[in-house]
Amino acid sequence: MNLKHVTLLLLSFVLLLSSCKKDKPTCGDGNVDVGEECDGGANCNTDCTNMAPITLTQAILDGSTSLVVSLTGQQNGQDFAHNGSGISSDSTTRDIFSTASSVSATPAGTIVTKHTYLNNPDGSKGALQVTFAMIKHLEGWWPAGNDWEYVMMPNDGTIDYSVTPNGDLSKAAAVGQLDSCDGCHALADGGDRLFIND
Ligand code: HEC
Repeated sequence: MNLKHVTLLLLSFVLLLSSCKKDKPTCGDGNVDVGEECDGGANCNTDCTNMAPITLTQAILDGSTSLVVSLTGQQNGQDFAHNGSGISSDSTTRDIFSTASSVSATPAGTIVTKHTYLNNPDGSKGALQVTFAMIKHLEGWWPAGNDWEYVMMPNDGTIDYSVTPNGDLSKAAAVGQLDSCDGCHALADGGDRLFIND
């Protein structure tokens, strides 16, 4: 191979690389959509590369360990304690966890889990009843549900919470694009589906 060939080879490489870059749309909204190039916005992952579609795993569920807030009483007028029975929001304590102590921004991959406890007669936190979870997917995964996946655990004593504090995914009562959850969570202020941000 002579110098001319080497130069031509290098040139075609440069051309190929620059055309790849041009063909890739850049997202301008702070979200990283599949096939888009990261724009450094809030919803990019930390190393600023495109994220692969997210699949909820037990490890992801287990990673929600930072307490965001502990609540009792109603939030945004919703008397719904997620404890699997008709017990009111005033009779329960709900601890909300995530991977960080704030969910003011919810990049794809954000997980939020909720532990519902029955209150003791003196108002203190009693026994754990059930855990529920939500995970934010890439933009476009479920536009009608703001791209959140919902996880409903059973409240029947089958889960050993000392092993899986946010529930056992293999025993989930329902997982996915759950209209029954989203119908109510759509009422959260700002459409972010998170009542704790209201
Ligand atoms: C009738 C309304 C309603 C329905 C239905 C509902 N939720 Fe909620 N959810 C709430 C409210 C209100 C909160 C705020 C925290 C609290 O008061 O306990 C909440 C909080 C949560 C949170 C913590 C994040 C946040 O939004 O603050 C998770 C996780 C969650 N719910 C999961 C679910 C799942 C999974 C389902 C379906 C199986 C579901 N929810 C169905 C009303 C509802």
